[in-house]
Amino acid sequence: MPEYTLKIRRYLPESGEAPYWEDFKVDLEGHRSVLEGILTAKGEQDGTIGIRCSCRAAICGSCGVRINGRAALACKTHLEEAHEGSQSDGDIVVEPMGNMPVLKDLIVDMDAVHWKKIQRVTPWLLPEGPPPEREYVVPHEAMVDVTQSMACIQCGACVSDCLSMEVDPDFVGPAALAKAYRFVGDPRDGQHEERLKDLSEDPAGIYDCTHCFNCIEACPKGVAPMNQIMRLRRLAGDDYEIEDRNNGHRHEKAFVQNIRKNGLLQEADLLPDSYGGKFHPNAVPELFDSLPVIMTALMRRKVTPGKALRHPHRKEFRNLRTYFDKIESRDERLELNLYIVGEEEEGDQDIAVETEGSSA
Ligand code: FES
Repeated sequence: MPEYTLKIRRYLPESGEAPYWEDFKVDLEGHRSVLEGILTAKGEQDGTIGIRCSCRAAICGSCGVRINGRAALACKTHLEEAHEGSQSDGDIVVEPMGNMPVLKDLIVDMDAVHWKKIQRVTPWLLPEGPPPEREYVVPHEAMVDVTQSMACIQCGACVSDCLSMEVDPDFVGPAALAKAYRFVGDPRDGQHEERLKDLSEDPAGIYDCTHCFNCIEACPKGVAPMNQIMRLRRLAGDDYEIEDRNNGHRHEKAFVQNIRKNGLLQEADLLPDSYGGKFHPNAVPELFDSLPVIMTALMRRKVTPGKALRHPHRKEFRNLRTYFDKIESRDERLELNLYIVGEEEEGDQDIAVETEGSSA
């Protein structure tokens, strides 16, 4: 039977000792999970290893840890897979999830961060008017649309690896915003606009995400929290025309138009265009506030005076505009829900259409 080495980060905050790494060798088949490896080490070598788990079947979401530097469910990760992905001479490096305080070894305080943020988005339906005499009848396509966010098992993996949250701990975060979409996308909820306004106006709300894609990669259930955040933005900015305090919606529009016009991003125009153009009254104070950023960009040659005045890529990307024209000429915005896939069955055409995509 193969032998695997688990390099586990040990830490007991109240001990006053610094965290340290401890190696445990376990004899298990490669198809067994990292969680089984940890539990074997705990059962046979050191009963004080702290790990949280319950279902052992990727359902309850309690065994989230970082394996080889990335958030994952320990019960869903095979030992051989973790061994192959090791960047530490084959040792499987296991540590607690990020962005949350450590309680003991691999156990983090989910209440302090994750659940607090979930509560922030009012995670229940807020229907308007009296309830119907019988059950609410919801269109099938509407439920397909929210199924992806409903698949979340609240493991906190996306929160752990969120780069925005690392910089701004106030960021509402990927898990909570995916949860918010679950209600904003539900036709039974009567507070769509209020929810979107709240999350747009919060400087740590939907426009605090920086598109790093880490949450999409970390999620063991394919919830793709970043995609749900982008849906919230499109609904807030395009459909409800909510002006956010971060100027995020206008910045996104300016970014897209910048690419449309120049083929590649013309950095020098992006900031003023985000505030309505170089000569817009709002742009002047923003440009002034951004002087340190502009100076850093110039010093690091991210922007050069030559490039700022004359964009060198414009001609090469002339055809790009045809793609913009094609997308912008659509009558209806198409929101692809890639979570549910299936084959079209005879006599079941309604379902088949919605399994491929749904419009918001
Ligand atoms: Fe339940 Fe891993 S123990 S998800």
